[in-house]
Amino acid sequence: MIKVGIIGVGTVGSSVAKILEENEQIITARAGKKIVATKGVVKNLSKKRDLNIALSDNTDFILDDPEINIVVELMGGVDDAYNVVKKALKNNKAIVTANKALLAYHRYELQEIAGELPFEFEASVAGGIPIIEALRVGLSANHVLAIRGIMNGTCNYILTKMANEKCALETVLKEAQDLGYAEADPTFDIGGFDAAHKLLILSSIAYGIDTKPEDILIEGIENITQDDFYFAQEFGYKIKLLAIAKKVGNEIELRVHPTLIDENLMLSKVDGVMNGISIIGDRVGETMYYGAGAGGNATASAVVSDIIDIVRSGKSKPMLGFKKPMEGEGLKLASNENIVSKYYLRVSVADKAGVLAKIASIFGQNDISIEAMMQQPKTWYANLLISTHKCKECQIQNAIKEISTLEFVTAKPIMIRIEEF
Ligand code: HSE
Repeated sequence: MIKVGIIGVGTVGSSVAKILEENEQIITARAGKKIVATKGVVKNLSKKRDLNIALSDNTDFILDDPEINIVVELMGGVDDAYNVVKKALKNNKAIVTANKALLAYHRYELQEIAGELPFEFEASVAGGIPIIEALRVGLSANHVLAIRGIMNGTCNYILTKMANEKCALETVLKEAQDLGYAEADPTFDIGGFDAAHKLLILSSIAYGIDTKPEDILIEGIENITQDDFYFAQEFGYKIKLLAIAKKVGNEIELRVHPTLIDENLMLSKVDGVMNGISIIGDRVGETMYYGAGAGGNATASAVVSDIIDIVRSGKSKPMLGFKKPMEGEGLKLASNENIVSKYYLRVSVADKAGVLAKIASIFGQNDISIEAMMQQPKTWYANLLISTHKCKECQIQNAIKEISTLEFVTAKPIMIRIEEF
């Protein structure tokens, strides 16, 4: 019998214990051995839980138990989780984690420390979608040309509701929290950091690139308003928070930001808490992955799949996809200012003569060609909603800087990148 200890028995941890118990027969058949969650660690012991496992509020209850074979780390956060996982590995236990923040910062060190011990993290990216295995195994014959995905269920839930029901971001965020989709600190969702953590994990597997969240472009959805949905609907776009990794020559663009995408794309149909990821391989072409990206059962499904995989195979696999580092390939992180994209700008201005001409001249001076434009009259100002043809990020940033200083511009312009597939 294989014994599992769960550190962090919240929504996901409870679902893991329940799946192991309720699906015991099929899991034993697939793994070849019976797997039982015997122990759990929780923060608050007085909270009532309907589970058949022994609980403690001390992680050593699991880490120092020689009978525990697999430690499931679901406590979240970076520093404490790092120490717990390190100790578990030192004590010769296999690891299964859903902790994307931990991996965003420590994946290469942990890979080193794990050595030959199994270390799996399927649930860390896109909840129930088996995207890690798809990338690590299914697409391993390919150079990955691009990964573009909706990887945060909370943001997708919010953007879908804002588009369909015309409600404000704050109201919908509360709903997502009540449904158990959001992170403990929801700014991780809204600010794009959660999606960035997931992107860094995928980009290590695809490109062997060792980057931290601080190194990449991360923008959240906090500034999106109904005005932007108005433009999107008029011009045939959807607004999605996309995590993008793209190979451009020997460089990799890594970025997370709200994005306007053609409403007819498959990713545009990924609504609510669902996640969707498009991966383009040089040999296979485009492949698409769709499923629940958050929620107890979906995430626990991925956690249990890792446990079964470890028990079934009994050995580790190259954690980040490569048996050797990729020095030979020489891929490095692209600089943000060289990103080439189409852009949308919302500029709030005083509605008077000469304003449009001045703004248009700033676009011209920065060698940016306007693709479409509409003016939305408001009570005491007007919104100029403008999209551009392709230009470099440094050009649009310069134009935004110049526009911001104009005396008739009433608020900082809002920019959303337009991604073409
Ligand atoms: N808060 C995350 C989301 C949970 O909304 O997608 C899954 O990582």
